[in-house]
Amino acid sequence: MKENNKAENSFNLKVFHRLTMTEYKLEVTTGDMNDSRTNDQIHITLFGTEGQSERTEFDNLGDFSTGTTGTYTLSTNLSLEKLLLIKVEKDPFCYLPEDEWYLSKIVVTTPEGEAILFPCYRWISRGELVELRGGRALKGFEEDHPVLIEHRKKELILKKSFYRWKIFAEGLPHINHFNNVSELPAEIRFSQSKLNEVKYLKMKTGIELKLKGLLGSAEKWESIEDMKNIFWWKKTTMSEYVSEHWKEDDFYGFQFLNGLNSKVIKRCSELPPNFPVTEEMVKPFLEEGSSLQEEVKKGNIFLSDHKKMDGIPPRAYNGEPLHVTAGLCLLYLNPENKLMPIAIQLHQQPSEQNPIFLPSDSETDWLLAKMFIRNADSMDHQAVQHLMKTHLLTEVYNVAALRSFSVIHPLYKLLFPHFHCTMSINIGARTTLLGPDGVLTISSLGCDGLTELMRRALSETTYSSLCLPEDITARGLESIPNFYYRDDGLKLWDIINSFVKAVVEYYYPSDSEVRKDNELQEWISEIFTHGFLGNKASGFPESFHTVEEVIKFITMVIFTVTVQHAAVNNGQFDYYSWVPNISLLLHEPPPTTKGQSSMETILEALPNVGDTVHFAALFCLLSETYSDMVPMGSYPDERFQEPAPNQMIKEFQAELSNLSEAISTRNMQLEIPYSYMDPTQIENSIAI
Ligand code: FE2
Repeated sequence: MKENNKAENSFNLKVFHRLTMTEYKLEVTTGDMNDSRTNDQIHITLFGTEGQSERTEFDNLGDFSTGTTGTYTLSTNLSLEKLLLIKVEKDPFCYLPEDEWYLSKIVVTTPEGEAILFPCYRWISRGELVELRGGRALKGFEEDHPVLIEHRKKELILKKSFYRWKIFAEGLPHINHFNNVSELPAEIRFSQSKLNEVKYLKMKTGIELKLKGLLGSAEKWESIEDMKNIFWWKKTTMSEYVSEHWKEDDFYGFQFLNGLNSKVIKRCSELPPNFPVTEEMVKPFLEEGSSLQEEVKKGNIFLSDHKKMDGIPPRAYNGEPLHVTAGLCLLYLNPENKLMPIAIQLHQQPSEQNPIFLPSDSETDWLLAKMFIRNADSMDHQAVQHLMKTHLLTEVYNVAALRSFSVIHPLYKLLFPHFHCTMSINIGARTTLLGPDGVLTISSLGCDGLTELMRRALSETTYSSLCLPEDITARGLESIPNFYYRDDGLKLWDIINSFVKAVVEYYYPSDSEVRKDNELQEWISEIFTHGFLGNKASGFPESFHTVEEVIKFITMVIFTVTVQHAAVNNGQFDYYSWVPNISLLLHEPPPTTKGQSSMETILEALPNVGDTVHFAALFCLLSETYSDMVPMGSYPDERFQEPAPNQMIKEFQAELSNLSEAISTRNMQLEIPYSYMDPTQIENSIAI
């Protein structure tokens, strides 16, 4: 009998051969995305500790419509007692062609009046075996019924055979074994709406660039001002600010803290021996009467050093190798609290052909030196900080979770929403960004060089460096002013940590629960092996012994997936679309003597018109907000049956909302607002 006014249809399901009837109420919710409805017949069987129901046919026509919840009654002769599983089958109806069904959840109310949530949140095809677990989240050792123990065992065997590891390149984190997005289950692929929006944006951009004759052009730019006409329609307040201020030293210094790569700069307590900056060189740029030594002592000197890049061969362009400089940049926090570049050396080994450039050099010498430093920084930003440390490592956390956890495990329920489309975007990134014409392939280091850079970076990556509070301390950046990446990031770290602590402590009341949870131990062991390649020196855990260790690790994972990814991803159009500010590709060799450059040299060094617009168009796509964006802390799928974690989610959301308001208020006072870590702008998973 129909009971729910939201349902369009209902069915009175009767089991005629039974004499005694016991009724189960089923609320079946169909997803609200396009095409989630079905006309197929649905069969449901309930399994309980005291037996199973009949395989009951829902003789469907026009039911299971998009975004509706239908309520049904399923009768059995006796109570099944404790409900264990629901089997859902989808079969053809009247020779109609198949339409896949997105089943969100089923809530069963037992004859005893208990409402049990069975989350599904996946597409179902004809002939698939779908058995839903419901009720309280359970760790493996808490299972107490032989049917569920066996079911869980089979589920994990199946998942391990479905999600497998593959080596992408020696020395890099391992990846999932799928070659094509179409091989992934539909629920972890991009939504159709997003695909349509990306396609439209690509088309719109392509048409504009083609009409203007910019796409594919091998011409050099005649003037830097011409680049302002790349897009008619796509500009942001920040991209315009960058195009006006890119030459200014204080804005250059600002970007080491609040641009796209805040992970390299550190306080300098002693100049590296291979960077022989003298007092005389920098005295004019320091406070009157002060010295470099004094400023180092006061903690006002900072260093950006790309030595990791030293010796990596750049790619060839028209048969000649390009140039990448493993440079060093010294920065000074002046009395106005502005971080100013005061000395640049473009290669690691000092020599006469490797002069130290200074702000007092000719405008174009200094500009060129700054551009080569920024070019090296862009290699690190894109390959190491963005691709490897967020996208690829998240894929490891994701694949390991899919292989190790049952869907009923509390940590699976907590983590899965944070991995939503990661495999999709990563498979896409490997074939497009690193494909033959991909922007990373055409960058100065090219595919091979960037792979080597990531390899070196992974071997040096420590657990500590991925945990923001420790990373900030290790780099001596606790007190540098106007460092919004740190200010917002630390607040977000604490908010995530409080949320994770509440959830983890709720499910793990003692350390012994951690130690005996085989699925959790397997998850971290797979991450250690496939993500950090068994490198014990990295400090990454191989196993968990305490609740505290689990809380810290999951905080780091959620922080990486949400906050850190937003910090390195969301501003790409703002900063990169004005190519003179950051170019992934520079043509001319870096200057080896002073006084030889002009604006002509800078134009020659910049990418040609076609490559410039190729970069700008891609960063336009990667910085767009799409209509299916799920903001950080939103969990539209209902996965937890227990009220406690749902309450914790609400508190988490309230904290994020308070921080968002505080960031907006702060930003109103700033000349350059920092919004990349506003929780409303952060996505809940890496989806672009
Ligand atoms: Fe990204």
